[in-house]
Amino acid sequence: MHYTTYGDTNLRVSVAGLGAGGFSRLGLGTGGSQADAVAVVHAALDRGINLIDTAAAYGTEEVVGKAIGGLDRSQLVLATKAGFGRGPDRVPPETVIASLDRSLRLLGTDYIDIFQIHAVSPERYDWVHGELVPALLREKAKGKFRHLGITETPPFDPGHAMLQRAIPDGCWESVMVAFHMLHQNARAGVFPATTAAGVGTMLMFVVRGIFAQPERLSATLAELRLPELDFLVHPGGAHDMVDAAYRFARYETGVDVVLFGTGSVDHVHRNVESLLKPPLPEEDVARLRAVYGHVVGVGLDVPTRPKPA
Ligand SMILES: NC(=O)c1ccc[n+]([C@@H]2O[C@H](COP(=O)([O-])OP(=O)(O)OC[C@H]3O[C@@H](n4cnc5c(N)ncnc54)[C@H](OP(=O)(O)O)[C@@H]3O)[C@@H](O)[C@H]2O)c1
Repeated sequence: MHYTTYGDTNLRVSVAGLGAGGFSRLGLGTGGSQADAVAVVHAALDRGINLIDTAAAYGTEEVVGKAIGGLDRSQLVLATKAGFGRGPDRVPPETVIASLDRSLRLLGTDYIDIFQIHAVSPERYDWVHGELVPALLREKAKGKFRHLGITETPPFDPGHAMLQRAIPDGCWESVMVAFHMLHQNARAGVFPATTAAGVGTMLMFVVRGIFAQPERLSATLAELRLPELDFLVHPGGAHDMVDAAYRFARYETGVDVVLFGTGSVDHVHRNVESLLKPPLPEEDVARLRAVYGHVVGVGLDVPTRPKPA
């Protein structure tokens, strides 16, 4: 595994992170058992992954807690999130603090490394910053978490408007952002600001539905009147489209951690292998940037299952 320092935090993180949400939810979202989910976490840890991202909304904190039970806590970087209600009514900060306390209990730990506010839209940001952050910083001072983070809502905020407002506020030590081969606008819109401010970056949506489903990818490209991405797969290039997606994202300047969500031990191994391979050939990356770099908001599937990301 390769490791890096996460923004200006002193966390040493694996460049590959295990996402316990998305459609798979460690397999719990696709018919897997708790034992299967534990096996996915163990496979990731065996490959040297030390960062696991979960959330109160995923229903996977308990199984992550089981999987890491008895391990040396100091070797793990645990990230989780709290939501704050979807409707127009704001939940009181006490509800978010209760979520943090529940996460600590379910994960079986006395501190979270990265505690994130989950899926903040531009419209809700002022309330999050003005009301929630001061209350959470008091919990941080008690030692319940080490670093404060925020995650965006890619299907509803493909231009990263929320993060563009949040990063200059200086209270966020971590952001989670969507970036992939057909949604590259964080290169100009987010990464220069996170790099300048020393904010750690985790990527989500690097594969999601679109790059794991060849027929869907073809249909999307046809709709956009863009050529197929097959040129990426060749000897000396990517092994397949998923391999291309991970390697493209991994070497983007300003990216610390690429998350992947899966319910498959086999996919854990394949994804780690992709993320440890060298960058895609320079001419392939240049073509991806030149021909597809203008595309925004493709493949950011709105979750359709219960308890999604
Ligand atoms: N707003 C937010 O805070 C937010 C939103 C979304 C996601 N997230 C976080 O980001 C993480 C990553 O996002 P994600 O899980 O949605 O997307 P992702 O990791 O880009 O894609 C996951 C999808 O790709 C499939 N997949 C993974 N490896 C594969 C492989 N080698 N071959 C074929 N298919 C493969 C998975 O199915 P299999 O199970 O079959 O592998 C799953 O359907 C989440 O788990 C979550 O922790 C946060």
